Amino acid sequence: MGDITNPSNIGSVVAVRGSVVDIRFDAHLPPIYSLLYADEKKIAIEVLAQLDAHVVRGIALTPTQGLARGIVVEDTGGPLKAPVGKEILSRMFDVFGNAIDRQSAPANVQWRSVHQSPPALARRSTKSEVFETGIKVIDVLVPLERGGKAGLFGGAGVGKTVLLTEMIHNMIGHQEGVSIFCGIGERCREGEELYRDMKAAGVLPNMVMVFGQMNEPPGSRFRVGHAALTMAEYFRDDEHRDVLLLIDNIFRFIQAGMEVSGLMGQMPSRLGYQPTMGTELSRLEERIANTDAGAITSIQAVYVPADDLTDPAAVHTFSHLSASIVLSRKRASEGLFPAVDLLQSSSKMATPGIVGERHYLLAQEIRKTLAQYEDLKDVIAMLGLEQLASEDRKVVARARRLERFLTQPFFATEQFSGIKGKLVSLKDSLDGCERILHDEFKDYSESALYMIGAIDEAKKKAPPGKPEVKTEPGVKPAAKADPEHESESKHKANAEPKSEIKAEPKSKPEVEHAADIHKS
Ligand SMILES: Nc1ncnc2c1ncn2[C@@H]1O[C@H](COP(=O)(O)OP(=O)(O)OP(=O)(O)O)[C@@H](O)[C@H]1O
Ligand SMILES: [Mg+2]
Repeated sequence: MGDITNPSNIGSVVAVRGSVVDIRFDAHLPPIYSLLYADEKKIAIEVLAQLDAHVVRGIALTPTQGLARGIVVEDTGGPLKAPVGKEILSRMFDVFGNAIDRQSAPANVQWRSVHQSPPALARRSTKSEVFETGIKVIDVLVPLERGGKAGLFGGAGVGKTVLLTEMIHNMIGHQEGVSIFCGIGERCREGEELYRDMKAAGVLPNMVMVFGQMNEPPGSRFRVGHAALTMAEYFRDDEHRDVLLLIDNIFRFIQAGMEVSGLMGQMPSRLGYQPTMGTELSRLEERIANTDAGAITSIQAVYVPADDLTDPAAVHTFSHLSASIVLSRKRASEGLFPAVDLLQSSSKMATPGIVGERHYLLAQEIRKTLAQYEDLKDVIAMLGLEQLASEDRKVVARARRLERFLTQPFFATEQFSGIKGKLVSLKDSLDGCERILHDEFKDYSESALYMIGAIDEAKKKAPPGKPEVKTEPGVKPAAKADPEHESESKHKANAEPKSEIKAEPKSKPEVEHAADIHKS
């Protein structure tokens, strides 16, 4: 913890209400954001308001158990500070900068205030460069920006943490710079699991972790993001290194702010959120910026309450991001992981000037095909696939194959899915989509494209059956084959995740399925 620089300024507690503490200082009133200690430094309080000439109101960053009126409070004479320096690499900290990995505190560190202002406009850099993740659906449809902010939006349990972990796995190895993981208000066990995984993967030497998880008081969850950013800024500005900042979950930061605001007695705004949410969020988000010294790329999970993307917390977060990856419950329930909503996700990088003409046109074509399929779904539900024009039927076949090709087995889920994780280069992802759009795979069963890496694996997984449907002339056989095809694949879409959970060898039954389809 930071040293007490001004021990002479002593006050005493006049009121305690949960995490809110009022303290009287007779000599010198501590300014806003001063850090105060009570009860032999066991209780830390941050000043948030000056009530009158002698009393300040603060929020406790630790539990306030045992705090009573009259207890002596010391003013540290400064704000909350975070440790920075080379020594913090490979370590894990709490909001105060205490090491929580059962090792001794790092030596040779400087302590810096967690409250910093964002870099001035003139210092910001404006380069646009794509950041490859090795995840097909993201690289093709939602390319991330180096030095940008990407959000993973999703309701409870749709795969935000899994996707974030996968990105850490794929990127940290290639990333030259430093990675900082900040856990805000999520499960405590996730922090411990991540620490072990990173240690096993050998990437810990270039990583720092900071946690303020759900067991901690709101004040601490509210400040842990600032502590992580202070460390990120040190690596960017002092060491001129690129930083990858991963946050799980930014909604919990907003939620902590809401609790603090409520405890401080502010009137809530829409849906109970704090009136100052926009300011609080932009103070944090604007510090994530690229300068001439280095870039901070950030990927943030955003919990979406009740799957409602119009929730004020989600809306405010959207406006800060350069790429939004929206996860959909419907795709997750069909077992199409990663459950990225292909039509709602967007990135400002998806323009011909940045990703190139071919990639841009291909992404447009994919979206168009998927959007057409979406429109046709109502007709299919009412009248059946056979009532569609043959051109529309082709669109449906392409869209369903694209949807399946854009699933991917993850390294992060190897243990419970039993399928080895795959990293796919952008070139392979684009080639695969292009070949599907050119109908090269129309004779392959849909499941041959499910949970594979590059497209050539489909050929190994399930060679096409005899293309009977194609050779038989007339509408009838096609009409007969297609509904079965449709119901077959529906059945399979449901069956796929099951077989995944059981980790059965998938290829054999699928070859049989494929043969079945083509026999009919
Ligand atoms: N890519 C994937 N492959 C297979 N299963 C997945 C995948 N992504 C998510 N899942 C399944 O969904 C479950 C929930 O995922 P995860 O913990 O990432 O959700 P979350 O969005 O972070 O939820 P929360 O909001 O509760 O933190 C996982 O335990 C797993 O069973
Ligand atoms: Mg999660």
